[in-house]
Order: sequence, then C-alpha cells, then structure tokens
Amino acid sequence: MSSSQLPPSLLPDSSEVLESDVLVGGVSLLKLAQDFGTPLFVYDEATLISRLQEAARVFDDGVAFASKSFLCGAMAKLAVANGLCVDVATDGELDIVLRAGVDPQRIVVHGNNKSEGEILRAIEIGVHRLVVDSFDEIDKIRRLLRPEQALSCLVRVTPGIEAHTHEFVRTGQEDSKFGFSISSGDARRAINALQGIPGVLLHGVHAHIGSQIFDTIGFQEELKVLIEFTKGDRFSELCIGGGLGVAYVEGESAPSIEEWGAMVRSTAAQLGLDSSVKLTAEPGRAIVAQAGMTLYEVGTVKELAMRTYVAVNGGMSDNPRPVLYGSGYEAFDVSRPLAPRPREVRIVGKHCESGDVLVDQAWLPIETGVGDIISTPVTGAYGYSMASNYNRVPRPAVVFVKDGLARLVLRRETLDDLANLEVE
Ligand code: LLP
Repeated sequence: MSSSQLPPSLLPDSSEVLESDVLVGGVSLLKLAQDFGTPLFVYDEATLISRLQEAARVFDDGVAFASKSFLCGAMAKLAVANGLCVDVATDGELDIVLRAGVDPQRIVVHGNNKSEGEILRAIEIGVHRLVVDSFDEIDKIRRLLRPEQALSCLVRVTPGIEAHTHEFVRTGQEDSKFGFSISSGDARRAINALQGIPGVLLHGVHAHIGSQIFDTIGFQEELKVLIEFTKGDRFSELCIGGGLGVAYVEGESAPSIEEWGAMVRSTAAQLGLDSSVKLTAEPGRAIVAQAGMTLYEVGTVKELAMRTYVAVNGGMSDNPRPVLYGSGYEAFDVSRPLAPRPREVRIVGKHCESGDVLVDQAWLPIETGVGDIISTPVTGAYGYSMASNYNRVPRPAVVFVKDGLARLVLRRETLDDLANLEVE
C-alpha cells in the first residue's frame, strides 16, 4: 500500500470520481450516506450485471452464482435474469432464493452436512443439481427418494490439490471436511452407490479447491485430476469449483472471469475432454466483490504517539474478514477522493475489542476528520453475508444503484428486529 490516490480499478465499473464526491451508478455516495444512513453497503448494478454476463458467456449453462458471497432476493433475481443458476449451501440460503421467485430448476444445492429436511426439500421442489458430499447423505437420499421421483446430482470430490490461498478457505486438499477423496477410492465408491439408487441422475462431478485463487495452475491441476478420474464415466458435466481471486488493494491484480473461463476451456481441450461435456463453475467473490463498497461515518480520531486511530460507526460486525483472515482493504475519504493520502491511520470499528480492525494500514487525506464519510471499496463479497450482531449492532442497509437511481434492497436492521428474538 502507499499514499497515492486510490486506484480506480478498485471501484465499481460505473464510478465517476469528482473533486468532492464519487458517483456510482450515477448516484452521489455522499447523498446515499445522507439518505440511507451509515454504515451502508452500496452495489453497482452495472458491475454485477457485467460480471454475471461474463460468467454466463464463458461457462456452460448451469454455471451458478455462489450466494454465500452475498445474498438477498434482488441479487438472486439478478443472477438468474443474467443466465446463471444460484448455488445455495443451507436451507436459509435456499429459502431466500425461493422467496425471490427463482425457479427451483435454477438452484444448485450444496452442503457438507445436509439435514434430512434439506434433502427432502431439494427432492420435492426439483432442484437443478444436488451436490452430494458424504456417504451419510447417500444413505439419506436412498431412504428419502421415492420410486416415482428423480434427483439430478453431482458428486463432490476432493482432487487432492493444495491451492495457494488462506488455509481457512482452502477446500481441495485431502484433509478436508468436504467431498469424497479420489485417491482413497471413496469418490469412486460414492459414484457407484449413487448410480445404484433408482431415480438418481448423476450428471458428473464437482470439485472445489478454495477461494481467492489468483494463479491458474491450481485450476489446471484440478481439471487434469477430474478429467483423468472421469475418463470412463460418460458424464455430461464437470463443475470446476474454486473461486477466482479479486484485487482488494493497490498493487494486486487478478485474471478476469473471461480469462479464467478461457483458460479452463483451453486446458480441458488440451487434456482431450469431449467438447460435449459441460464445463461449469460457481463464482461468488469474482461477481460481487468489486461491485460493492461500504460507507461509514468517522466518529472519533485518536492521535497516539505510535499511530492514529480513526473509528467508524461499523466494524467487525459488517466486515469480519480482516479479523478472520487478516484481509487487507483500502479506504478513501468520499468528499476528498482526489486529495493526496499521506496520513497513515488504522481504521477501527465500534466493537468492544482491540481486534476490531477494518483497515490495519489505511491512507487518508490530512483533513479527514469526525463527521466525514469514508468508504472501503471491494467489500461486496463476504461482508454483508458474514455480518453479525456482535455487541447488538444492527446490520447495515444495502442499496443497489443504477442509471442515477438508488433502490433499497435490504433495509437497515433495527433494535426492534434484534429484540424480537427475546422470549422474556
Ligand atoms: N462453491 C463452493 C462449493 C464454495 O465452497 C465456495 C466458497 C464457492 C462456490 C464460492 O467461491 P468464491 O467464488 O466466492 O471464491 N468467507 C471467505 C470465503 C469462503 C469461501 C467458501 N466457499 C472469505 O471471506 O474470503
């Protein structure tokens, strides 16, 4: 990081940086902060649509938006309207997607520990794919699927690949709670078992090697393992899971979804995969991260001998990623976006612990002070979706902006919402 201006590539596509404001989707961020309050998540619909369409173009039908990265009804509808399926990992995610009116035939159901209820619901509504994760799940399917019913499945396998990413978000290695190991023979046993259940339509395999992956070698290795493993199976689909990385701070760069898809296709062709086999994926972060940003108001500035603390009115409850993974972010002063940023500060939240850091090393203009609106860009993925009510802090509102208009898609949580859970 440095004290130079914020790289425009970290802002949503439609951003226009003015002298004393930033427009996103033609809407003033300062006005959004005023109208909707802070903290506020702002998503640029143009960026969302462009990334969704890119994914729909480069992968085959069945490519799914990973809703865990950011979910609300508006987002689920946008994903489907732009050609994607929606991947859900729990009943809660499924519920929101169904309430949004998404056709079950566009829903992919994941989960390493699906309950009987979750499996039954997937069977009854007729989902696009259920991704089978364990032998216990296969037993449940055998018990729950009635002879006249059908269930379209993929089987999740662990390819034994250690992707270069944070250990908490690595999933493709042998030592994993997800899927069936190929090398131990479990994956083959799972395929045989599923093929023996009347009504199960096994379309292919799914693998996931982790999230925030920048280097394409991991995906190439994954493809190699999957193609080799399924050589004799005549499957019609390979889901090349593993989430493409995104740039969060100055100096980082990531392949585009287009480049990622092209690499997957050319590798598959080189490895001799029949061109009729569908290549699908499940991007989440690459769709929503850069489309979203958070607005906060500065409440306190504390100048200490060793550093300056800038405290804002949110924190680890709306973005736990810095605390969980040591993730870095940038920040800028919305009313002074072009000003030099010579002042190194630590941006912290309002929670009662020292770990409540949003940006460990941020650069702000000298003038930024109490009452100013600052923004952390690239917070569209795994911020709102992992938000909590720690210290009974209500979750922020979320707005979508497009063509000069802002629409509230998730209202701010209220103290009454939180109190509603109290029984006595
Ligand atoms: N499909 C499956 C089966 C997954 O497990 C994941 C992510 C995705 C798709 C979406 O991956 P993406 O494109 O978003 O990388 N909370 C962490 C990320 C955890 C990702 C877990 N699985 C974070 O904030 O970095």
